[in-house]
Amino acid sequence: MKRILCIAAIVGSVLAGRDFYKILDIKKNASPSDIKKSYRKLSMQYHPDKNPDNADAKRMFQDIASAYEVLSDADKRRKYDQCGEECVNQPEQQGGGMNPFGDIFGDIFGGGGGRQQEQVGPSAKLKIKLTLEDIYNGREIPVTYYKMAICPHCRGSGADNPEDVTVCNDCGGQGVVTETKRLGPGFVQQFQRTCTSCGGQGKTMTSTCHVCRANKQVKNLDELTVFIEKGIADGHEYKFREAADEFVNVRAGEVIFKVHTLPHPTFERSGNDLKTTIKITLREALLGFTKDLKHLDGRRVTINRTGKITSPGQVEKITGEGMPVYEMSSDHGDLIITYQVELPQKLTQEQKDLFKMVFQMGG
Ligand SMILES: *[C@@H]1O[C@H](CO)[C@@H](O)[C@H](O)[C@H]1NC(C)=O
Ligand SMILES: [Zn+2]
Ligand SMILES: [Zn+2]
Repeated sequence: MKRILCIAAIVGSVLAGRDFYKILDIKKNASPSDIKKSYRKLSMQYHPDKNPDNADAKRMFQDIASAYEVLSDADKRRKYDQCGEECVNQPEQQGGGMNPFGDIFGDIFGGGGGRQQEQVGPSAKLKIKLTLEDIYNGREIPVTYYKMAICPHCRGSGADNPEDVTVCNDCGGQGVVTETKRLGPGFVQQFQRTCTSCGGQGKTMTSTCHVCRANKQVKNLDELTVFIEKGIADGHEYKFREAADEFVNVRAGEVIFKVHTLPHPTFERSGNDLKTTIKITLREALLGFTKDLKHLDGRRVTINRTGKITSPGQVEKITGEGMPVYEMSSDHGDLIITYQVELPQKLTQEQKDLFKMVFQMGG
């Protein structure tokens, strides 16, 4: 039964599977960092914000994302290499008897079926401060940051040569030794302690890596580009997989950039809308005015209230002059203007007389 399913899967993959290596423009033996680099470059190039209304670019962008999702994951990449895209989503073949619930419970309880949970290192969360202009127009933000990387010379063994690493004699590579202690006649206690010969590493080295001095990690300057999409929400998290500190035998955690929108002198964002307050004089309130408002992309938006009366606190909505809508950046929210009328602090006698005359006329 299972064999048939597997063959079907292979046939399916030949027909429908995508060539993830070709999509990411990398060789079959590409390293994780090559994969990451290519992914970042291509996903920026084909980003929908850069290619609006381009269906080919959109499909390519999706392919790139799928390719990266699989190839950046050691386990999925292995399955993909064996039998293509269709295989990646197949549950692991169970070695034991027929248990229809095996996979389900395996997934819920974290790999009861012999699947080993991969250890992932801590993630690093950073704030990325953006102006409203950044969010209105979209932007690429290059970020350089320090992280601990596996030493490139010893690849984390700590020895200067691979041959200089041997299994520890005292613990047989376990890193722990079991000792028996006699507590009294007939009483024996067994306990484990960390092997002192190898410090719990299970390996001993006859040389010391000259690059990391056996620290196994080196400080490394890395760089990322955060692509800010138009209209991105405040608090959005941009996650970069495997970009945080590297540790031996552990998959590096994520670097997470959380969007923090800086206050703007003119506009306040409210979802897709923008709000602003415009101060006008009493004269402008009564007789009308035109004013230019500098928008977030530098355009001047003309507010034309020629011949119109504006009450204090009056609200005007200008449709389509708000923030671009996320992932539909040709759509915009509205601009909501509140007019604030600034009354004169004092009037001359002449002005008072004139106003009296006006009010007598106008009622
Ligand atoms: C403002 O609108 C009036 C008509 O309501 C028009 O005559 C005038 O040219 C407009 N001014 C500007 C600067 O657009
Ligand atoms: Zn080293
Ligand atoms: Zn040991």
